[in-house]
Amino acid sequence: LDNGLAKTPPMGWNSWNYFRCYDVNEEVIKETADAMVESGMKDAGYEYVVIDDCWQALERDDNGNLQANPERFPSGIKALADYVHKLGLKLGIYAVPGTETCAMHWDDYPSGKIGSYGHEKQDAKQFEKWGVDYLKYDWCRADVTEGLEHIPAFEKMRDELQALDRPIIYGISEYGDTKPWEWAKPIANMWRTTSDIQANWGSLMTILDQQVGLYKYAGPGYWNDPDMLQVGNPGLSETENRAHFSLWSILAAPLMAGNDLRHMSTSTAEILSNKEVTAVNQDLIGLQGRKIRDDGDKEVWMRPLANGDRAIVLLNRGQKETEMSVNITDLGLPQSSSTYYVRDLWAHETTQSTGEIQASVPGHGVQMYRISPADPVEASENVQHVKTSD
Ligand code: DGJ
Repeated sequence: LDNGLAKTPPMGWNSWNYFRCYDVNEEVIKETADAMVESGMKDAGYEYVVIDDCWQALERDDNGNLQANPERFPSGIKALADYVHKLGLKLGIYAVPGTETCAMHWDDYPSGKIGSYGHEKQDAKQFEKWGVDYLKYDWCRADVTEGLEHIPAFEKMRDELQALDRPIIYGISEYGDTKPWEWAKPIANMWRTTSDIQANWGSLMTILDQQVGLYKYAGPGYWNDPDMLQVGNPGLSETENRAHFSLWSILAAPLMAGNDLRHMSTSTAEILSNKEVTAVNQDLIGLQGRKIRDDGDKEVWMRPLANGDRAIVLLNRGQKETEMSVNITDLGLPQSSSTYYVRDLWAHETTQSTGEIQASVPGHGVQMYRISPADPVEASENVQHVKTSD
């Protein structure tokens, strides 16, 4: 969406993957915002603190306005936005295009008939009044609303957000059901491409496979969203966390942490705050990485970067450690050179190579590198040469 926002993939945190419905409340949101600052994540680029489903009271007020759940958010959303803004962060919130919310119909929760259907303008204005900076608009259960169709429903809220004075990032989710990458570029800043992520290796690999071929649909202001991170949640090992974060970064995915930031291990904090990896994710040219090799369990993903460098992820989907090698000349670097710098983005070490990168990759793990010509003089001569000869 051309609204001047999300020129790089949004970075932040969302309550859903860890806190789900019942455990999200204003203390959690405030403490998470504090932790985002104290852990170094804000420094690494994380900005949005997003409250997912279940923040709402089950009824609108007498004027038809949405209101916060009085038990879990007694101070209201405006107070939370103020708190988060004082820390230099931004607040995100959740709504749905149909008549009923998503999670609230589960278990003993009565179904909240508080969707934005027919209230789009009113809700957009309410979010603006509260100081919301990001809206996740989730199709979930919109199917029960008779006659509602995906594209017009998502367009309607886009129009109402665009009419406001406040810049609000607009992320939509319909789980890839209607191939939003084919239609959502003028509608949203990001769109989900798959159903919900789970904290296990199988789920990560299923989602990864669904990203193949989608790289051509993403760019500054409009991103494929393979769902929020599970880094640091029970179910993934440290090696798997590193793989997850590397892959989502090379995919130019929004990096929305989904763990409990208040009680994370040093290893999880370090993974989420690895600035050499987030720099790949946030690269300004905004080209999404793509799979360039697939040898069964061994895959190579590559992303061209703004300065001509290449980021690569060597992925081992198997359980046992394995050797992998890549030829730098296969990466389509714009400038050739006799030697290349190979920066290991997890070990934070640079080596030189004349053409071959060899690495041992742990089971369910990755190696991630940034590759650049080691001899910039020769490289710039080459560029000139190419220019005069064409
Ligand atoms: C479905 C979405 O895919 C999840 O990310 C979450 O927002 C839930 N709905 C909330 O009900």
